[in-house]
Amino acid sequence: MRKLIAGNWKMFKTADDAVAFFDAFLPMLATIPATYDIAICPPFTALEAVCKRLRGNDRIAVGAQNMHWEQSGAFTGEIAPPMLTDLGVRYVILGHSERRQYFGETDDDVRKKVVAALTNGLTPVVAVGETLALRDASQTRECVVAQTRAALHGLGPDALARIVLAYEPVWAIGTGRNCDAADADDVMHAIRTSVRGLEDVPILYGGSVKRDNIANYVCRPNIDGGLVGGASLDPAGFAELLRAACEGIVNEV
Ligand code: 13P
Repeated sequence: MRKLIAGNWKMFKTADDAVAFFDAFLPMLATIPATYDIAICPPFTALEAVCKRLRGNDRIAVGAQNMHWEQSGAFTGEIAPPMLTDLGVRYVILGHSERRQYFGETDDDVRKKVVAALTNGLTPVVAVGETLALRDASQTRECVVAQTRAALHGLGPDALARIVLAYEPVWAIGTGRNCDAADADDVMHAIRTSVRGLEDVPILYGGSVKRDNIANYVCRPNIDGGLVGGASLDPAGFAELLRAACEGIVNEV
């Protein structure tokens, strides 16, 4: 099973800020075991600078946070898949709850984007997660299973083998109120078994992941890494988080 820790920088850091992050972070990499693939997902405007800064570095991949499903066209303000691959981008986060919540992204939009990502050789990181209202109504599993099935609808086994999933409970994102690890593992098991062919697909946990709690997550059988927001912004803090995650794997339950 591939294991991955991805940093989602959201709408933080200019291109210069992003390069400064790697100037500080890259020397720390040597002391971090290679247990995890590492990806950083900067804003669009920093992608080119980050791809250039990381040229020749085979430990860190670059991801985008969104993209359009068309190859090109009259879609003002949008970014097409070939624009990302042209820069050297490898991953793209799709269906993040902030996209769904604030920008009206639907399950079907996510599905079209997943197909476009795969067609263009990008690895989609497909995010699913329930709102607090759905959790309170005991609808967590129904919600995440429906989102997963909708996003992956029509994909064959070869396509499924190339994706990454992320479970991010909406109420846990940026709130410091992280999901109990055993509970997250149960929900992620429901995600893994919702579509045949996900047995070996990495599923990441996201939502207030910090260096103090990452080990609790990655030691669980259905949690193959993390999708980290705020705690990926500081180079030393992110390096510490990666080290803690590697220790969590050593202690896998
Ligand atoms: P936080 O780690 O800041 O809670 O964000 C999680 C997230 O949304 C990652 O995609």
